[in-house]
Amino acid sequence: MQTIKVKASKEYDVIIGQGVLSLLGKKIKELFGDVKVCIVSDDTVASLYSEKAKKYLGEENIKNELFVFPHGEKSKSPEVLFELLEFLASKHFSRKDVVIALGGGVTGDLTGLGAAMYMRGMHLVQIPTTLLAMVDSSVGGKTAVNLKSGKNLAGVFNQPELVLCDLQMLLTLSSEIFSEGVAEIIKYGVIADRALFELVKNGELVENIENVVARCVSIKSEIVSEDEFDTGKRNLLNFGHTLAHSIEKMSEFKISHGNAVAMGMLLISEIAWKRCLSKERCQDEIIDALLENNLPVSCPFTNSSLYYATENDKKSSSGRISIIVPEEIGNCKILNIALAEFKELLEL
Ligand code: GLY
Repeated sequence: MQTIKVKASKEYDVIIGQGVLSLLGKKIKELFGDVKVCIVSDDTVASLYSEKAKKYLGEENIKNELFVFPHGEKSKSPEVLFELLEFLASKHFSRKDVVIALGGGVTGDLTGLGAAMYMRGMHLVQIPTTLLAMVDSSVGGKTAVNLKSGKNLAGVFNQPELVLCDLQMLLTLSSEIFSEGVAEIIKYGVIADRALFELVKNGELVENIENVVARCVSIKSEIVSEDEFDTGKRNLLNFGHTLAHSIEKMSEFKISHGNAVAMGMLLISEIAWKRCLSKERCQDEIIDALLENNLPVSCPFTNSSLYYATENDKKSSSGRISIIVPEEIGNCKILNIALAEFKELLEL
């Protein structure tokens, strides 16, 4: 078991290990005292883990309720958010009580925002159940729901007060969902840690899963401690994501986030090398890492269609865009450039 401290506007522990869900009741008592808990989960995860979570809360005599919503990105909506808020009110939760997000990225984002809004803020605990949520979305406090106009448009920064990453939960993931998390791990390797990158490229992830999750969380923790509100360095975490958002959107979300990030990382690395923005040719090693982990190495969209989708997305940000380019594996830089320059980089 390993514990990583995150030092942002709130200081909290991310506990990583096999079976750490069993600490739930004890930790809630220790951190919050005599409180009531609302577990929030989608129907898939609830059927796998909500009874277990309730059992560990029950062992400490912690009263709890369960709010279940339909799985999938569609539920990351203002409608489901307000259903959650109404549920909390109907069960007489107060601001001293605790909401637990038990699930993947959708659950974490929705619950985190609900916890910030209900009575202007109640306690939040994240229990990520996917690899992607463990290494990325459960840590750092970004929460949001989607609006009709776009993804993540309504949200706040709301740090959790505890994150429990129970690695046993990874056993119930399909290989596709597991790979989505691996794309984010490759991202951490490229932006900050060549040794981590090599380990994943060499197919040694599974046997090192605890150390790998801990390393990713610790990279994220360092970045978030420096730039919690995403005005500078935190942008590094968007390596591969600018194009990925356009890829996801153009595929009408048929291409998963992880697969889109894989394509986005590769495309931007190829562009960076061609335009002499990199010190080393990173794309070949990135291809090896993606192939080793069943991630895609080609994108179904042309550079020109990606550019126009990205331009559309960035209309509100004064004609500029931040792109993250690898100088070498383990070291990336942030370039804030005009959209016209981005267009040139894409050779349009
Ligand atoms: N997932 C990127 C970030 O938390 O900033």
